[in-house]
Amino acid sequence: MNVLVVGGAGYIGSHCVKQLQAAGHHALVLDNLVYGHRAAVSNDTPFFQEDLGNRAAVSQLLVDQKIDIVMHFAAYAYVGESVTEPLKYYENNTGNTIQLLLAMQDAGVDKFVFSSTCATYGEPNTLPIVENLPQSPINPYGQTKLQVEAILKDLAHVGKISSAVFRYFNAAGASEDGCIGEHHSPETHLIPLAIDAATGRRAALKIFGTDYPTPDGTCLRDYVHVDDLSRAHIAVFDQLGKANTFVDYNLGTGRPTSVKEILTAVEKVTGFKVPAEDAPRREGDPPSLYADNTKARTELGWEPKYMDIESTIATAWKWHESNPEGYADQ
Ligand SMILES: NC(=O)c1ccc[n+]([C@@H]2O[C@H](COP(=O)([O-])OP(=O)(O)OC[C@H]3O[C@@H](n4cnc5c(N)ncnc54)[C@H](O)[C@@H]3O)[C@@H](O)[C@H]2O)c1
Repeated sequence: MNVLVVGGAGYIGSHCVKQLQAAGHHALVLDNLVYGHRAAVSNDTPFFQEDLGNRAAVSQLLVDQKIDIVMHFAAYAYVGESVTEPLKYYENNTGNTIQLLLAMQDAGVDKFVFSSTCATYGEPNTLPIVENLPQSPINPYGQTKLQVEAILKDLAHVGKISSAVFRYFNAAGASEDGCIGEHHSPETHLIPLAIDAATGRRAALKIFGTDYPTPDGTCLRDYVHVDDLSRAHIAVFDQLGKANTFVDYNLGTGRPTSVKEILTAVEKVTGFKVPAEDAPRREGDPPSLYADNTKARTELGWEPKYMDIESTIATAWKWHESNPEGYADQ
């Protein structure tokens, strides 16, 4: 398959490109590099520096490169910023995705894979999170993802574009060979922050809330390895061949891990103490979020390879240890 990976210079997209290539597909990357890194994409991967909202350019590219499937990872993903700058999020995450879908229609490309998020569920009443729980996001970021999901359902209904939606929990880790990894700027994700605190590149890590109704008082989240996420994206290809398809899958390990457990695991893997201090709870942080991944297991035959948090953190550490500054280009 010829697969255009939109946002393929970002964290999850770049890992997916590697997995696509390993599975024998032809992956091409489109990214405007607002947050991505050119160095995250190998030199032998066709790379187009372009904004996904440029309908005419994207449509031409889809035709010229004979694209079969579009995978869409490009978005702004800072929850706090989405609250203070909502239009920035609606414009890029929803508006530009509409332009991308229009470009696909122009070019006659009808298969789409979309990065959604567990944030579309808001604060669910029941755990683990199953696909058919009500979706009621509590911030504009989650709202933009839910809007795109609704658009994709409508397009599938009329047979225009078949799509697969993946709701990720907390993406974590790095490629096993240590060549690519996680470099967000600014970084907000716990594992890279804890590694940076452990190596003295950051001040003490703040633990937001130690009085949650969880076994150790800190929040529980579901850390799923980025290569496991990528494998699900490829496993879904067969389903996209059918017209009127809209499928959705929650991607997580199904195992909750607390903030304190992450810090302990980072200490064990790196051999360094993680300096940390208690801080008040953050608004909108539910005590516990973890996936029911039965649907992905059953329908896609998907099996997360990294079930043990230390093995996930070991891959992150391999990347950070040899790239303490992250990618050199930013
Ligand atoms: N990282 C996570 O834990 C997580 C969890 C749930 C969902 N997601 C979703 O997964 C996707 C990928 O996340 P990530 O962590 O890899 O993010 P990332 O910021 O590393 O990657 C996003 C990429 O999209 C590019 N991009 C953004 N706007 C663009 C535009 N208008 N035109 C072209 N390129 C553009 C950026 O330059 C970047 O390379 C996002 O859609 C995010 O919302 C991520």
